[in-house]
Amino acid sequence: MGKDVIIACDFSSAKDTFDFLDKFTEEKPFVKIGMELYYAEGPSIVREIKKRGHKIFLDLKLHDIPNTVKKAMSVLSSLDVDMTNLHAAGTVDMMKAAVDGLTKEDGTRPILIAVTQLTSTSEERMQNELLINASINDTIVKYAENAKLAGLDGVVCSPLEAGMVKDACGKQFVTVTPGVRFADGEVGDQVRVTTPAKAKEIGSDYIVVGRPVTQAADPVAAYRRCVEEFVG
Ligand code: C5P
Repeated sequence: MGKDVIIACDFSSAKDTFDFLDKFTEEKPFVKIGMELYYAEGPSIVREIKKRGHKIFLDLKLHDIPNTVKKAMSVLSSLDVDMTNLHAAGTVDMMKAAVDGLTKEDGTRPILIAVTQLTSTSEERMQNELLINASINDTIVKYAENAKLAGLDGVVCSPLEAGMVKDACGKQFVTVTPGVRFADGEVGDQVRVTTPAKAKEIGSDYIVVGRPVTQAADPVAAYRRCVEEFVG
């Protein structure tokens, strides 16, 4: 699986998204569509961005009973996305059902990755509110192992967790990592951040970059800088 930079298109309308993507006249970046944009515009936004030639990571983080997730995944698969995700907390059975639903008649399917514990969940809250007594690192590794067991391709995690996930699940197990900032850039609300170069060194397969590109004075130059540092 090749290394790539995924731009988080966290816009609330198709217009803002296309105004942004129109700036890219030479390259066709891999883009992430999240809940905000998908719920605002529906499946047509996926079809339109796909028609423009971009690869798409549809970040909807499914979590429901296995049968419902299987059917929902089958719909997402027919949208021809390249990558999508779910919550590993839905159990191995739910993840297996997701793989089933996502797989097309010809046996191919989009890359499927799991969210282990959200980076917004602290160890203290996980233990006190969710009553998970293990450490957050052990929980992340166990959920990643469950995802592998269910036949998923990898997990979303902080770049700082990518090494431990690779150690537990193998080099081929994909890590998709947000929380990326340039060494000389604004951190914003992200807490544990790394640069694209550092994410490469740690072993991330895909970095997800939002505001450092979308809010840059020159988004195309910022994207190219990410690619240069991360892919080389
Ligand atoms: O703007 P920024 O680079 O912080 O955007 C990061 C993107 O990655 C956002 O779409 C955010 O929702 C997503 N993300 C994250 N941390 C996670 C999972 C997803 O920042 N643990």
